[in-house]
Amino acid sequence: MNKESSQHIPQRELDAILRFGTLVNSSLHIEDVLEHAIKWAQEFMDAEASSVYELDRPKNELFIRLARGEKKDSVRGIRIKVGEGIAGWVAQTSRAVVSQDVSKDKRFSPKYDEKTGFKTRSVMCVPLISKDEPIGVLQVINKKGGKPFTNSDFKLLTGMAQQVAIAMENAKLYQRLKEDYALTTRELKMTQEKLIRSERLTAMGHLVQGVAHEIRNPIMTIGGFVDRLKKELGPGDKLREYADVIMEETNRLEKLVEQVSEFMNVQSASLSSDLLTPVAQKVINKFAPLAKKQGVQIVTWVDENIPPLEMDAPQLTIALSHVMENALESMPDGGTLSLEIHPSNHDVLITISDTGFGIRADQLDAVYDPFVTSKPRGAGLGLTMVHRIVMNHRGEIKISSQLDKGTIVVIRLPMPNHQHEGSLHPGE
Ligand SMILES: Nc1ncnc2c1ncn2[C@@H]1O[C@H](COP(=O)(O)OP(=O)(O)O)[C@@H](O)[C@H]1O
Ligand SMILES: [Mg+2]
Repeated sequence: MNKESSQHIPQRELDAILRFGTLVNSSLHIEDVLEHAIKWAQEFMDAEASSVYELDRPKNELFIRLARGEKKDSVRGIRIKVGEGIAGWVAQTSRAVVSQDVSKDKRFSPKYDEKTGFKTRSVMCVPLISKDEPIGVLQVINKKGGKPFTNSDFKLLTGMAQQVAIAMENAKLYQRLKEDYALTTRELKMTQEKLIRSERLTAMGHLVQGVAHEIRNPIMTIGGFVDRLKKELGPGDKLREYADVIMEETNRLEKLVEQVSEFMNVQSASLSSDLLTPVAQKVINKFAPLAKKQGVQIVTWVDENIPPLEMDAPQLTIALSHVMENALESMPDGGTLSLEIHPSNHDVLITISDTGFGIRADQLDAVYDPFVTSKPRGAGLGLTMVHRIVMNHRGEIKISSQLDKGTIVVIRLPMPNHQHEGSLHPGE
């Protein structure tokens, strides 16, 4: 190329580059940009065909991103090894090629013409470079009328290649941004749902506390009087049966009120450094006799090297007890209850699984709600409390279950040194 012509880009070409630049900057739709790029390239250079290849770095191959021309459909899906053919050479060396007669160019590979039935005579091929790395190739083929490509054709193509490279890079960035955004939105929604659940539970809690308080005294009174009534009635009196029923129901109410006040007590926790393993051991010991009676085998797998956690030991005892109790209640005819405690990244995972009757999928979401129970004598407050206690520890609880197979409860508690990890290492 001579020096003179390199300094004078004709007005027409300059216009094209400027207009193209505006398009690149205004469109995030890569297909639009590429479509225009090769359309203009082909028109201005009076070429028969044109294509944009993108580099597939892991495979070290080029693939056709977009093509124009008579055989554009048959080139779709074509992949070229980097280093193979003129386009491959350009991608490998990051250098442009103008080949006015490919039959004299050793880099040219006739393979693709053979595949498509197209006859390539001349090629102008420039690399698409972004951040000093090749990301693809822009190519125009066969100047019409058998004429050679001119120096200004080459300049125009090089100018366009710069813009196309930017557009491709922007499109990739945009895509990544879109994916990140979708992720953030999803996380936000989950956090929001958790928040709504906690709020709802707190609101319910206040209501429940009021009711429990009002109920406690009358229950005590009824219980006391029934007891006296029973003593007045002789051992064979038919009315004793009724008294027994009243007594039983009163006991049930008393138990409910007890659970409600327990529920109120776990609304907030006082955390201090403590060991989790003894807590778990205590709960296992408590339930061992009942398990034995039901024919349930308890299997434990506890990592002894878990460091002390910031925790409220009495509350965690309550939480684990309720989960264990549910597990045992789901296996009236025996089964296996397993408890696993082990560290995972920055957390401790407590996994309690049973081989019981399971929870129906459509009921899984409601199990944390107060008074949701499938048991005739259940209060439906166990998991409500468990959830609250886990939240008090800034942990997470997840229950998965399969009908007639069993239930798995996973409680995740953060390890103390990692509770603020995020703010210490913002780059992670
Ligand atoms: N391990 C489990 N297996 C089967 N069902 C369970 C299990 N854990 C909880 N559930 C279901 O969730 C409901 C709510 O549990 P919970 O809040 O402890 O209340 P309750 O035990 O008083 O019914 C239970 O009634 C039961 O239907
Ligand atoms: Mg329960």
